[in-house]
Amino acid sequence: MKIFLDTANLEEIKKGVEWGIVDGVTTNPTLVAKEGADFKQRVKEICDLVKGPVSAEVIALDYEGMVKEARELASISEYVVVKIPMTPDGIKAVKTLSREGIKTNVTLVFSPAQAILAAKAGATYVSPFVGRMDDISNDGMRMLSEIVEIYNNYGFETEIIAASIRHPMHVIEAALMGVDIVTMPFEVLEKMFKHPMTDIGIERFLSDWKKYLEKVKK
Ligand code: E4P
Repeated sequence: MKIFLDTANLEEIKKGVEWGIVDGVTTNPTLVAKEGADFKQRVKEICDLVKGPVSAEVIALDYEGMVKEARELASISEYVVVKIPMTPDGIKAVKTLSREGIKTNVTLVFSPAQAILAAKAGATYVSPFVGRMDDISNDGMRMLSEIVEIYNNYGFETEIIAASIRHPMHVIEAALMGVDIVTMPFEVLEKMFKHPMTDIGIERFLSDWKKYLEKVKK
C-alpha cells in the first residue's frame, strides 16, 4: 500500500519524506489556498521534495480549459498528476490526456458508477472521497469496497486512492480491502504512530535501564 500526504504544506511533506514512508502527495484548491503560496511554484517545490506522484488540480470546468491547464501543469515536472473533477467534460479531458501520456487523477468520486467511467477513460488514478460520504450519513467504506471489487473484476489498471481520510481506522479498513493508495492529512499519519502501550513500554525500559546503571555504578 502506498501512502500519499493530502497537503500542500512543505514542512509536513518534508517530515513525511524524512520518515521514508511517503510515496506521493495530493493537493486540491482548498489545501493550496490555505498555504497562500503561488500555485505552480508550490507544485514544483512539492515535486522536488517528494520525487513521486503529486496531484495538482485544474480550476477550469470546460473540456478545452481543463486540457489547456492540464498540459501547463504537466510541464512543471515529470511527477505531476493532473487532478480532474468527475464530470462529463472531465472524463473527456482524461481520455485526451491519457492518449498524450499525461497522468490523471479523477477527483470528487462518490460512487462506483463514477469510478467505472474514470477507469474507462484511462485515468491513472481515481479518488473516492470516503470521509465526505460519511459526513452525509452514507457509508464511505462500502463505496470504496465496491469500487475495489469492480476494478478487480475487470483488471482495470487505474489505481484507487482512498481519499478524504479522517482517522487511522479509515486507513486500516482501506488497507484490509487492498486499496492501492491512501492519501491522508499529516495529522492522520502522525496518529498512525501512536499506541499507549508503546509509550508505556519505552518508559518502563528506560526506567529499568536507569536502575541498572545506578546498580552497576555502586
Ligand atoms: C483528495 O485528493 C482530496 O484532496 C481530499 O482527500 C479531500 O478530503 P477532505 O474531505 O478532507 O477535504
